[in-house]
Amino acid sequence: MKEKLKDITARALLAIDKADNNKDLAAVKVEILGKSGELTGILRNMKDLSPEDRPLAGKLVNEARVEIERAFDAKFKYLHDLELAKKLEEEKIDITIEGSDKKLGGLHPLTQMQNDVIDFFTSLGFAVLDSPEIETDYYNFEALNVPANHPARDMQDTFYVTDSILLRTQTSAGQIRYMENKKPPLKMINIGRVFRSDDVDATHSPVFHQIEGLVVDKHITMCDLKGILAKFAQRFFGEKTQIRFRPSYFPFTEPSVEVDASCPYCGGKGCRVCKGTGWIEILGAGIVNRNVLATCDINPDEFTGFAFGIGLDRITTICHGINDMRLEFENDIRFLKQFN
Ligand code: DAH
Repeated sequence: MKEKLKDITARALLAIDKADNNKDLAAVKVEILGKSGELTGILRNMKDLSPEDRPLAGKLVNEARVEIERAFDAKFKYLHDLELAKKLEEEKIDITIEGSDKKLGGLHPLTQMQNDVIDFFTSLGFAVLDSPEIETDYYNFEALNVPANHPARDMQDTFYVTDSILLRTQTSAGQIRYMENKKPPLKMINIGRVFRSDDVDATHSPVFHQIEGLVVDKHITMCDLKGILAKFAQRFFGEKTQIRFRPSYFPFTEPSVEVDASCPYCGGKGCRVCKGTGWIEILGAGIVNRNVLATCDINPDEFTGFAFGIGLDRITTICHGINDMRLEFENDIRFLKQFN
């Protein structure tokens, strides 16, 4: 039996040594130590031995079993460690490899400009109003001193929803809403989309953006208007920018002006951008018409005010040297990327 045990042990150790994966090793284990394994068979036959021989035989079988089991455990651990090392090697992260190029979004140039304009005016104490895009005829025209059949309505081709409801053609509508609810001193801007039935070209769009401004207080004059607009032009077109007023007509202001800024590209000498004139028109403005104040229950003998309307799209094209306003609405990613 001793010989037989020796033989089993030797073969077991050889098989363990040869097994190069866990599955094979487990099969070898069943073959030798399993229920119908060789070693188990010997143990089972112990009952046939004489009682004197049994203790020694038991000891020998046990020794053989311990030796074989140890060899199994060692090999299992070896294979396990090997597999782990291989896995770690394969999963190693190379932190020096360049990452894939993740594109970040950014703000649209009009939004950036709008934020800058809001910053400018709020720093001067202006409140920011957000008034409806769908307006009534009353706020968009009537209360702004443009009664039905007034020729000034032809200046703005209107999208009507019903006879009395329309898409606002100007952010000026917000002036009335503001003055209805608040009494002077007032300082507010109203920025947003406006709509006109215009054909699309390099300088026109049926949807565009305006910045309306309104200041009402005692003793407000054209000088206050000029001061704020000069600062505005310098902030957005450069320190050296000058502005000039040209007489104009708007029903809601009297007197009314159109305001030009000296061309930021040629400094006033004349170039392609300013069409050789040295000046670029940037906005309309004026002293709030007495009728408008009275409509909002503000006494025009006690208070005066100024108002202005700036084209946000226009000043964005001027600031960035964009030669076609359509680019601001088409959202071509190649165009937008240049601003972020
Ligand atoms: N609402 C005018 C327009 O859309 C712009 C404008 C001109 C606004 C003069 C004003 C203003 O507040 O005083 O053409």
